[in-house]
Amino acid sequence: MHQLAPRDGVHANDTGQGLGISPQHLPIRPHGPKSPDHLPRIGNTKQGDNMPQMTEFHQAIQKSDWTKEKHVPIIECPEIVPVDEYFDVVVTLGKAVAHPNTTEHHIRWIDLYYHGMDEKFIFQIARFEFCSHGESVAGPNQGPAYTHHEGRTKMKVPKGGTLFALAYCNIHGLWEGVKEIKVA
Ligand SMILES: [Fe+2]
Repeated sequence: MHQLAPRDGVHANDTGQGLGISPQHLPIRPHGPKSPDHLPRIGNTKQGDNMPQMTEFHQAIQKSDWTKEKHVPIIECPEIVPVDEYFDVVVTLGKAVAHPNTTEHHIRWIDLYYHGMDEKFIFQIARFEFCSHGESVAGPNQGPAYTHHEGRTKMKVPKGGTLFALAYCNIHGLWEGVKEIKVA
């Protein structure tokens, strides 16, 4: 089966196998992963020519409930923040269901973004990269260091908006977390 990270409410296991995704959750990709034709084709296609449809990037970003799904990033900060005064923000994941941290399976990074209310553009606030996961010349998980998937920063904004966090698991892809903030 084509291995695509699960959609809403579908839990990924630690190996990426047996995701329990029904075919209707998958994009149209009739070819197996070993076929060169599995890659989406760029450019104009004629209707009915059986060409694979291109997946838009946002369709590959998974959303779910962080209390049930270990990949969903959690944004911890006040719901009401002071205007133009720095406040603390913590982004992490796996607080309800722990995510592994091994050489084979780990979180590589989490990005934090701010989209101000009624604004057109979004702004990246921080990127947290988690670089050590037990790698060693002795072999996987034989190294001494493991980076925990948690980032802390401070930020300030003039008005309310939405914070987005995007987490990347090395085998389960991209996951989104969201939190609304207001100012007072
Ligand atoms: Fe994962």
